[in-house]
Amino acid sequence: MCGIVSVYMLAVPAVRTQERASAKPLDLIEWNGGKFLYGVDYYPEAWEEGQWEKDATLMQEAGINFVRLAEFAWVKMEPQQGRFNFDWLDRALQVLNAHGIKAILGTPTASPPAWLYEKYPDIAAMDPNGIRYRYGSRRNYCLHNPDFVAATRRIVTAIAEHYRDHPGVIGWQIDNELGDPKCFDPLSRVAFQKWCQRKYQTLDALNKAWGTVFWGHTYQAWSEIPLPWNTLENAHNPSLALDFDRFQSDSTHAYLDTQAAILRTMAPHQAVTHNEMGLYAGVDYYNLNRSVDFVAWDNYPMFEKDYAQYNGPGLAHDLMRGSKNNQNYMVMEQQGGLPGWSTFSGRQASPGLYRVWAYQSVAHGADGVCYFRWRTSRYGTEQYWQGVLDQDSFPNSRYKAVAQTGKELGQLTELLHGSKVVSPVALLVSPDSRWAFEIQPLVEGFHYDRQLHDFYDAFRRAGVSVDVAFPESDFSAYRMLVAPALFVTDQTLVDKLSAYVKNGGTLILSFRSGVKDEHNVVTNRTLPGAFAELAGVAIHDFDPQINEEQEVVGPGESHFPTCVWSDILEPTTAKIVATYGKGYYAGKAAVTENGVGKGWVYYVGSESTSPFFYDRLIARAAQKSSLPLNATLPQGVELAVRQKAGVKILFVLNYTDRAQTVALDQVYHNALTGRQEPLEVKIPAFDVKVLTTPSPGGPPAVR
Ligand code: GAL
Repeated sequence: MCGIVSVYMLAVPAVRTQERASAKPLDLIEWNGGKFLYGVDYYPEAWEEGQWEKDATLMQEAGINFVRLAEFAWVKMEPQQGRFNFDWLDRALQVLNAHGIKAILGTPTASPPAWLYEKYPDIAAMDPNGIRYRYGSRRNYCLHNPDFVAATRRIVTAIAEHYRDHPGVIGWQIDNELGDPKCFDPLSRVAFQKWCQRKYQTLDALNKAWGTVFWGHTYQAWSEIPLPWNTLENAHNPSLALDFDRFQSDSTHAYLDTQAAILRTMAPHQAVTHNEMGLYAGVDYYNLNRSVDFVAWDNYPMFEKDYAQYNGPGLAHDLMRGSKNNQNYMVMEQQGGLPGWSTFSGRQASPGLYRVWAYQSVAHGADGVCYFRWRTSRYGTEQYWQGVLDQDSFPNSRYKAVAQTGKELGQLTELLHGSKVVSPVALLVSPDSRWAFEIQPLVEGFHYDRQLHDFYDAFRRAGVSVDVAFPESDFSAYRMLVAPALFVTDQTLVDKLSAYVKNGGTLILSFRSGVKDEHNVVTNRTLPGAFAELAGVAIHDFDPQINEEQEVVGPGESHFPTCVWSDILEPTTAKIVATYGKGYYAGKAAVTENGVGKGWVYYVGSESTSPFFYDRLIARAAQKSSLPLNATLPQGVELAVRQKAGVKILFVLNYTDRAQTVALDQVYHNALTGRQEPLEVKIPAFDVKVLTTPSPGGPPAVR
C-alpha cells in the first residue's frame, strides 16, 4: 500500500513544543514506563516475516523491552519520491508490541535511496579533491544541498505523521552517527563563506583574526574564501581550518535541528535522541546535545584502548554523559558480538565480558542499553559484524549472557532509578584544542586523547569517578579539574578557570597550554601565555623531544621516562615538584605547584609513559585538595559508583580471565542476592558484582 497513510493521525498541537530539550532532564526509566531500557537494534525488513514472531518471543524471554528500528530503511518507506509505505513497519511493530516491546524509530536519512541520487546526483558529498563520492555506501550526502534537505524534511515529516500517536513508539533516533564526510563542493563553500560573514561581519575582522597577511592570503571579497580542500603541500591557514571544523560541526547541528524541529512539532510527547560516537572529535557534542532530549551513543569496547586490561570505553562513557551536563544517558549500540566488516577484527570475547561491558555502561550512568545488533546480517558489508544471535538464530552463549543481564537489570531497576554518577574530579575536554591538534599535530607521537587518558586512567585506578567537562560546563562543584594541553583558549575560559582556582579548586594544566588564542593564532606573550600567572611559571625554552630520551625526576625520588615534549619551566611564584633528569636542561623544573587564592595550580611540562608518574602526581594534588583516594585497584578491575539519597551503588567489574579481590571501605550488600559481602570482595573472572549500602535503618536496598 502506498501513498501518505496516517493511521495514527491526530491534530498537530498548535504550539511548537521545543522546550523539552532544555527543560527538566528526561528520566529515561520513567519515560519507559518504569522499566530500565533494555533493547536490541533490529532489522525486521531483512528477514522473512515468519521470523518476526520467533524473534519477538526470544527477545521477550531475554528481558528486551524495546528495539531501535528502521534507521537505514528509507527506500522501504519511500520507494518513490513522495509515495510512502509503512505497512511492513506497522506489522513489525504489531508483532513486537504484542510482546511488550516498544520502539525507538530511526529517521532513515543516513542511507538515502538510490533513486534520490539518480535524480539529484549532487546530494553526494564531494571529497577534498573535488570528486563526488559514488553511490554504494552510506552517509554519502552533503548537508548544504537543498535537494537533500528537502528530501530529509519530506521523509521525516511523513514518518513522524504516521507514527506520532503510535502507542508502541516512544521516541526517535535522528539519522545515524552524524559527522563525516565533510563536503567540499561549491554549495558548501558558499555556506562556509556565509558562516564566516555572520561570524566576522567584516573582511577586515576576518583577515585580522586569521592572520591572512601570511603568504599574502588576504581576502578582498567573501567569495574568495576557500575551503581547506586539497592544496599543494596540503598547506592551509590553521585559523581557516579551525573555523571550518567549527562550521562543519555547526552544520551537523543545524541538520539535526532541522529534523528535531519536525519531530517536536509533530510528536511533542515522544523523545528525540541521536546515536553518537564517544571520543569521535568531528562534532562538538556539548553543543549538539542542546538539541536532544537525552544522549545516546554507540559503544564498542573492543575498539578502545586496552579493553581487556582496563576500563576501555570508560572515558568515552564519561564524555558522553558530560556532553549533556551529566544527565543519565543510554547506549544505543552496545557491542553484542565480534566486530568486523570484510574481516573479523579480533579474538572472540568471553560471553561474560559482554555482560560486564553492559554493566559498565550502567555503572557510568546509562539508564538504557541496546545491543547492536539482534542478529548478524546475512547480507551486505556487515556480514562479519556479529549480533547477539548469529544468522542461524540459535540462542547461543551471547544470547544467554544478554538474557541473564536482562533479568538482573529488571531486578535492579528500582534501585538504579534516580541514581547518578557524582564525581569530585572533572577532565576538561576542549573541542577547539582537539581540532587544532588535528590541524597541526605538534610532533610525531603526540596524541591529545592520550593526554586525556594519562590523567583519567590514574583517577580511575584510584577508584575515583571522573566527569568530563567542556568549556561551557559549570566547574564549581569539582575539587579538582584537569585540563590537559589546553592549547586553544579564549579569555572567557581563562577567567573561568582563574575564578575556579581562586575559590579553592585545584587545576592541573599540562604542556602546550595557553599557546593559541581562539582563532588558532599563537600568543605573543611568554608561555604559558594566558596561564603564566595562574601557573606561576615562565617558559622560555622547550624541547619537542621524542623517543623517550628524557626522564622526569619526581614527585619523590623516582625517575619516570617521558615520551614527548619538555616545557623547561622557570618558576616565578610556583614551587618545583619534579625536574628533568637528562641533557642540557637536567635539573630544570618539569612539574610545578602554585598556590593561588584558596586553590592550587599544577603545571606538568612533559608526558610520561609511566602510569606511576600520574598516580604520584594526582596523589599529591588530591592531598592538597583534601580528596581521599582509594587504594589502587587490581589491574583489570574497575570500581564505579552511582548514588542517590543516602544510597551508594557500587559496580565492581572484573575484565580479566581470573578471579580478583578488592578491599572495600565498608561492608556492602549484594544488590542481587541481598546477602552481605565480605570487606574483601571476590569477583570471579569476567564477572561483576553490584553492591549497595543498606537503606538507612532497614534491610538491604534490594533482596
Ligand atoms: C556503527 C553503526 C552501525 C553499524 C555498526 C557496525 O558505527 O552505527 O550502523 O554499522 O557500526 O559496523
